[in-house]
Order: sequence, then structure tokens, then C-alpha cells
Amino acid sequence: MTMNMKVEGIRKGMYLATPFFLQNGTLAIPMGTKLEERHILFLKKMGIKEVEVSITPVTDELSVEFIQNEETLYRLIKEEFRVLVKDSLLNYSNILSRKHVAHQVADNLLHEIAAKKYLMDCLLDIKSIDSFTYRHSINVMVLSLLIGSALGILGRDLYNLGIGALFHDIGKMNVPKDVLFSEGKLSDQDKVKIEHHTVHGFEILIRLPDMTEEAAGIALMHHERINGSGYPHNIKEDQIHLYAQIVGIADVYEAMTTERKYRRAHNPLEIMEFLMGNSGILFDEHVVKSLLESVSIFRIGSVVQLNNNECGVVVQANPSLPARPVLRLIFDRHHLKVRKQILIDLAAQENTTLSITRVFG
Ligand SMILES: [Fe+2]
Repeated sequence: MTMNMKVEGIRKGMYLATPFFLQNGTLAIPMGTKLEERHILFLKKMGIKEVEVSITPVTDELSVEFIQNEETLYRLIKEEFRVLVKDSLLNYSNILSRKHVAHQVADNLLHEIAAKKYLMDCLLDIKSIDSFTYRHSINVMVLSLLIGSALGILGRDLYNLGIGALFHDIGKMNVPKDVLFSEGKLSDQDKVKIEHHTVHGFEILIRLPDMTEEAAGIALMHHERINGSGYPHNIKEDQIHLYAQIVGIADVYEAMTTERKYRRAHNPLEIMEFLMGNSGILFDEHVVKSLLESVSIFRIGSVVQLNNNECGVVVQANPSLPARPVLRLIFDRHHLKVRKQILIDLAAQENTTLSITRVFG
């Protein structure tokens, strides 16, 4: 996961997430460089205030048209895919057993993609839409695998869920770019064109050898909602395949947790409120519950405030009651620093009146 950081805060060993160019266009520090003292000093000397860094290795964005050799391209794609999956797992889950299953399925999936040119072409098609959609697709795949495994989906079925999740937005490649990336208000006609990515996606996937109808159906139905308010066919409840329901919620959750050009990421309380509020309305209750059990909404290390004004740092997630993690108290209700180690288990009986009201990050 990358973040913008003030140059003063950068430590050696972090990775540069975007290339740093001099004003004359010369590449000074390539993207992915493991930063050393001399790089940090150089950035300071150049008067740079902030750069984008990552604590995990980042690979360079692959520019498909500049890589002539297919073997090199495939190798780089595989490396990049692995890094993005690892990043995504790190970001979304701290339940080891689920992480392990999702990781294994993602790995099998990558092997199959690398062995079948038509699947590699699909992956390249998604990359060609834009790097944002590519990352989003991998995150949605990882989230769907976590939710699927929480729902007891196993083996080849989980694989089919994963591949459908990875390619759920492939139909966007057939939507005109000026419509897809339009930042203004969309006309009704353009909205229809965007919504049609679901049908395009199904048509692309169903023609591929070995692609099951369930996997292709994910592309078609991932924007349907159980109350019939979705698209393209306004179908309801179990008319929407379970896999498409899983990918649908993973898609929305990923979008809410990721910062976009035009808005910040939603905070965990807003996300929780949205999911709980729409459980049984837009999304099936079991699917919402499985998502909440699978992801760490309040991340370990984030600082939160309680309704009694105390502040604590999240030290342990609670998969069955995600809104009630274990905190270590850092400030008491009078905002005085707490020196002793005091743990507050929000799921404990004596703490039922307490709730998280604010998240600081
Ligand atoms: Fe979509």
C-alpha cells in the first residue's frame, strides 16, 4: 500500500512508489527504488516536501507497448500480480487461516493465467483500461476469496469465484474511454454505456474455454442488488448468483476503503454504518456478515475515540463482532496520557455501553 509522506518522515528501507523526475525531465530516482540515506538527502536538497512511498516493495507500472519480449512481459506481470495480492491481503485481513486460503487460490489462479494465453490476454486487457482498475480488480478478487472462504466455498468453486472476481470489470474495455473516465456529470445515454460493461464482460468471458457460467455471470450480475435496485436487469435476491453477490459487496467495500482522485477513503465507522444499514436491503445479510468477519475494518494500530472520550489504539480485531475490537488505552477521558498498560475488550460484558465514535487513522 502506498502513502504520501513528508520527506522528513521517510526512513531508509522504504520504497519510492512513483518515479522522481528532475524539472528537465531526467529520471532522478526510479519508481520502486529502496531508499537510502543519500536518496532522502537528495530529495531534501531538491526542496521536495512530500513523495509517495511504500513500506513493501513496489514494481514499476508495466507499460505494455514498450515491452517487446513476451516472456519478459509475462514474468513482470507475474511478479507484479504477486506483490499486489500480498499487499491486498496485508491490507484487508489478519485472520491467518483465511489469508492462507486466499493466497493459495490466488497463486493457483496466477499459474493457470500464465499457462493459458487467452487468460493472460484478459489480464492485459484489464491493465489496458488503467492501472487503477487493475489494482481494484486484484483487491476485489482477494476480498471475494476471503468472503467466499468465510461462507464455506472451497476448491474449484473458490477458484471460479476468484477468476470471475478478477475479471468482473473486463467489459469496461469496450466502454469508450471518454465516457468511462469522464469527470463531469454523465448523460443518461453515457450512464447506459457504462452500465453495459456488465453485459460486455459476460459476453467476453463466456466465450473463453473453461470459463464457467458462474464465473462469467459475476461480470453480468455484480451490480445487481437484492432489492432489485441494481443493473443491468434489476433482478432480485437469489436470482442474483451468490458469487456475484460476493463480488458486488467486495467491489463496493474496495471502493469505499480506497482513496479516489475526487474523494478521500471513507472511514471505518462510515463503512460499518453503510454495510449494516444496507444489510438485507442492497446486500444479503449472510454476505455482509461474512465480509465483516473476513476483513479488519478497524485496523490494528489505528487510534480510536470512545463515547466516554477515552482514546485507545486497536491491538486485536474481533472477527465475530468487528465493531468491538480490543484497545489499549492511551488517553483517559480527560485527555491525560495513560502510562499503565490497560486493555479494553469492547466485546466484554462490562463494556457494552462503550462504542467507537471516531477513528484517527
Ligand atoms: Fe463493475
